[in-house]
Amino acid sequence: MNAESRTRLNQTPEWTALAKHREELADTHLRDLFAAGPGRGSGYTLQVGDLHVDYSKHLVTDETLRLLRELAAATDVLGLRDAMFRGDKINVTEDRAVLHTALRAPRDAVIEVDGENVVPAVHAVLDKMADFANRVRSGEWTGHTGKRIKNIVNIGIGGSDLGPAMAYEALRSYTDRDLTFRFVSNVDGADLHEAVRDLDPEETLFIIASKTFTTIETITNATSARNWLLSELRAGQEAVAKHFVALSTNTEKVSDFGIDTANMFEFWDWVGGRYSYDSAIGLSLMIAIGPDHFREMLNGFLLVDEHFRTAPAESNAPLLLGLLGIWYGNFFGAQSHAVLPYSHYLSKFTAYLQQLDMESNGKSVDRDGRETEWQTGPVVWGTPGTNGQHAYYQLIHQGTKLIPADFIGFAEPVADLQPGLVDQHDLLMANFFAQTQALAFGKTPEAVRAEGVPEELVPHKTFKGNHPTTTILARELTPSVLGQLIALYEHKVFVQGAIWNIDSFDQWGVELGKVLAKRLEPALTDGEDVSGLDESTMALVAKYRELRGR
Ligand code: F6P
Repeated sequence: MNAESRTRLNQTPEWTALAKHREELADTHLRDLFAAGPGRGSGYTLQVGDLHVDYSKHLVTDETLRLLRELAAATDVLGLRDAMFRGDKINVTEDRAVLHTALRAPRDAVIEVDGENVVPAVHAVLDKMADFANRVRSGEWTGHTGKRIKNIVNIGIGGSDLGPAMAYEALRSYTDRDLTFRFVSNVDGADLHEAVRDLDPEETLFIIASKTFTTIETITNATSARNWLLSELRAGQEAVAKHFVALSTNTEKVSDFGIDTANMFEFWDWVGGRYSYDSAIGLSLMIAIGPDHFREMLNGFLLVDEHFRTAPAESNAPLLLGLLGIWYGNFFGAQSHAVLPYSHYLSKFTAYLQQLDMESNGKSVDRDGRETEWQTGPVVWGTPGTNGQHAYYQLIHQGTKLIPADFIGFAEPVADLQPGLVDQHDLLMANFFAQTQALAFGKTPEAVRAEGVPEELVPHKTFKGNHPTTTILARELTPSVLGQLIALYEHKVFVQGAIWNIDSFDQWGVELGKVLAKRLEPALTDGEDVSGLDESTMALVAKYRELRGR
């Protein structure tokens, strides 16, 4: 169907029906929904692998869910899903397949891109990674002076940093605690400085992670790291081979940088940067947790891939979560979405999701090149829950904005906590359950008055409630569960992009800033006249030069 003949999303009967339904629900409170539907608390739940997904505290009825599924059907979300899994080039603006799902496909799977089965290559790289990881972990791989590697520094940015850095934190209790891991991403020299200042270069391995191997931040940091290493070791270029490996799709650039391509771990253009930490980009993680745990994680991804690919719409968790986001964003005007993990180990989880979601769905032009007339991706934000409770939860509870939120928690603390600290887990989780309860049901003025609160304080102490949340509960944060969680969000983002008819797999919006920075740099350093500079930026550059004494 060409662009002209395709009915625009907001003109479809399914969209109109949802808008009307939203009006009908305008005065409905979650308290009413629970009162009207006993059993909702256990009925509005799904089990996906190890994840118990509770969506009972959402402003939805069976009818809402039915209408949302009709919207998904009208926009052929599942058709696009099948095209993605098949290897069709659904990244239309870059003419690429979108096959992060092939990264966790079993060895005997067949997934073709341009007539070639990509699965054998995926497993060949995984095997090569496992071999290398084992050699580093066992001490067999040594540095230039023969010393065992004890420090691993991943240098990358965006998808080449956030995934491994997040997963390393998440799976800390599975890591080899004798090894030190650092993640450097910022072109601010302070990042690399702090990462290496207390490391022995003889014992340090740098992993340069860059899909394109042209990203200025990464190449700059990698060059500085190489200078640091060679000058500290008082060694020549020959030392690089033992201390630098590359994760990339670009063999030529890796070789130009001076890294032996035998020490390059490959991936492919059908893996988007933000969908790549289960590819070679996960090498630092694999060294940290070992190949077996890495494979367990991949199996977790696979489990949710299979669920997404085969579960009926009524019980398809990524579809449901995607639709709930559409419901609030497009029919309630919600602008943001909070992700609030009740696990300290998930401290980088939301930052990871920010790229996954916002770089994927932060678009305002649809796949046909037309301006969208509907809201697309939300602002995704959040930090571990209990800390947030003492910072920004006030606004979620009593502010003026509707902020749907995901609460993620675990029944068991991680395995290697000291016994005294294990006891704190119930307190953590009591907060977890209390918050979604308070957000949903609030506290009525009558309940406040019944506590003897003076009348003038009653409005201040009243909680309107009616704030929607999803609760995701699992027994424990294992490698598999982490893979399941990430795949759940990957596919949720997919569903939303499919409905909004945007290309969730390009990222043109990051280009302009890169080009302008490159053009501006000589103005900062040499005072070069940069033509076409606007007056404001020109004045700021002049001020900067003055402050730097130039
Ligand atoms: O931010 C833009 C981006 O292209 C991301 O999509 C990507 O994850 C990141 O830069 C890093 O890119 P590369 O892995 O090519 O260095």
